Amino acid sequence: REISGRSARLVGRKVVVTTGGTMESIDPVRFIGNRSSGRQGLAIAYEALREGAEVTVVSGITEEYELSAINRIDVKTAQEMQQVVSAEMEGADALVMAAAVADARPEQIEVEKINKGELTKLALIKNPDILAEASRLKKGNQIFVGFAAETGDGIREKGLKKLHSKGVDLLYVTDVSDGKVFGETETTGVLLSKRGTEWEFRAADKHELGRRIVSELAMELAKFNG
Ligand code: CTP
Repeated sequence: REISGRSARLVGRKVVVTTGGTMESIDPVRFIGNRSSGRQGLAIAYEALREGAEVTVVSGITEEYELSAINRIDVKTAQEMQQVVSAEMEGADALVMAAAVADARPEQIEVEKINKGELTKLALIKNPDILAEASRLKKGNQIFVGFAAETGDGIREKGLKKLHSKGVDLLYVTDVSDGKVFGETETTGVLLSKRGTEWEFRAADKHELGRRIVSELAMELAKFNG
């Protein structure tokens, strides 16, 4: 099948992409969140669609978007995202974990708004690591892609460590020292593969990274059953 004049390499493949940030309620008006816009995940979803994939986007909190032809599932919390991801991975060929998952959530959600005088401390508990947990159940013919947002020195080395600790095939590590990637259309970072290949991106369009990731996905998946 041809899409946009190119041969579509992901026809018949199911790709699950998580995007945006998760949000953890503190009380009825406050929450823990992050600055993810969801743009990178959506760029990947779009590029996967262009290659003919069946795409499910598990969407946390993002900028508003419209992407037709995807199966969109909206979630708020990390736990909700985990449930959806684990259900969707049954029968999926690839997981792209582009979401910025809140690493912790309040120990309890207050039903009543917390009085500002009492808002001095917040007890937290760790959220599940969705990607690491999903990796444990990863089937031999599935491909996983992770992301890492790092600050400080040795960004690439931190990324390599995470590639292995998270059990993924590809990991894109980006420098967020100044918070600059969030909401931007461009990205600077390194895509690392477990085969040892690396691709550098400097102020590249997020779609360019999306195309590279999708292309690697297609190549790896083609090795399993043509
Ligand atoms: N991730 C996840 N579940 C979490 C946290 C992160 O699935 N609770 C995923 C992200 O979607 C991303 C990757 O894991 O693909 C890297 O996340 P990051 O927060 O950089 O990794 P951590 O191991 O949480 O980082 P660190 O231990 O350095 O804080």
